[in-house]
Amino acid sequence: MNTTNREAGKQAPGFEPVAVASIKPVPYEDAHEVLEEHERETERELVMTLLDISDTTFKGSGRGLRSVHAKSHGLLHGELRVLDLPLPYAQGLFAVPKTYSALIRLSTTPGDLLDDKVSTPRGFALKVVGVDGERLPGSQDAQTQDFLLVDGPAFLAPTAHQFLGSLKLLASTTDKLPKLKRAVSAVLRGTEKIIEAAGGESGALKGLGGHPETHILGATFFSQVPFLYGLNIAKWQIAPVSPGLLALKDVPVDLSGTADGLRAAVVEHFATQGAEWELRVQLCTSLESMPIEDATVPWPESESPFVPVARITVPPQAAWNETRSVEMDDGLSFSPWHGLAAHRPLGSINRVRQQAYASSALARSSRGRCPVHEP
Ligand code: HEM
Repeated sequence: MNTTNREAGKQAPGFEPVAVASIKPVPYEDAHEVLEEHERETERELVMTLLDISDTTFKGSGRGLRSVHAKSHGLLHGELRVLDLPLPYAQGLFAVPKTYSALIRLSTTPGDLLDDKVSTPRGFALKVVGVDGERLPGSQDAQTQDFLLVDGPAFLAPTAHQFLGSLKLLASTTDKLPKLKRAVSAVLRGTEKIIEAAGGESGALKGLGGHPETHILGATFFSQVPFLYGLNIAKWQIAPVSPGLLALKDVPVDLSGTADGLRAAVVEHFATQGAEWELRVQLCTSLESMPIEDATVPWPESESPFVPVARITVPPQAAWNETRSVEMDDGLSFSPWHGLAAHRPLGSINRVRQQAYASSALARSSRGRCPVHEP
């Protein structure tokens, strides 16, 4: 292990010395998490609603799909290199500089396979393979650490109970009226532009099809909800850093004449170029301004910036094909509960995700072209 940077107080490339020196992270205590009223009942209803969605899409398509994030746009093989970090960033997976192999699935949020003109938030799921250390309950037999992110800084509901309401609305529209969804999406995109011009952003409108029709490879992704970070608490971000990706920020994609324009754009990029992202960590330095139990609050970057802790590198490759789809759409499941005890998911949204992901993966495993398994 190379401890030179830590001993000498030096920092890995990309570090802002001032920011790191001034960060005083809050030590995690169990009392920081507060169970929501009737949380087990909410969890049960969420699981049932999600299973209803995948039952509906199975009847319509004959395929075992994810109950959300059903459509993939890129299925990538690459690696993740942990940087040589000072404390408090050198904790958990990031304690030691090391390179791991990594799998990435790029998706959009709905549970049905919609035309990309119904423009919805983009997802980035990362699976780091070959990780050692004490495991989370339910993932003891694996050696992976998953990260799941979406391209907005905050979740659309503060708590699991309030999210259940939005999910029920989404479930009632699954597999219904794709043409109407396209039309509604176009109207919502216009509304979202007006809100953004006024300095706002509406997660709810974007979720229903109001997301701008931009290139998925130019997006910055956020965990939105917090995780244990060794002795502390953190949120994640994955941001493009290679020039080829930076050039795609906010760039519109041509979605005319095809239902799969986003996937075509990703395949075109990786046919000739690779990509690099930074995985960044924002440590919680105040429980007042950086709450654990309200997922709608983006933590202020003026108080604690996102600091790079690892680099994700993906070489040029065939970024989507049927073989990869069998392997990664059907054969894999990504979950915030696949990982190290040092990165336990925190807060009500995260707590209910444990059962939701496990039951969604189990339901589609027997309906897919390959049983779900950890690599
Ligand atoms: C209570 C809140 C949430 C619930 C119930 C939920 C549920 C689910 C379920 C059931 C899946 C499909 C799992 C599978 O079949 O393998 C999924 C996928 C996903 N979720 Fe969530 N989710 C929640 C919040 C979030 C949040 C906060 C994020 C990140 C900001 C997120 C990002 C993703 C991503 C990226 C995927 C796709 C994973 C893949 O490619 O396999 N979710 N979610």
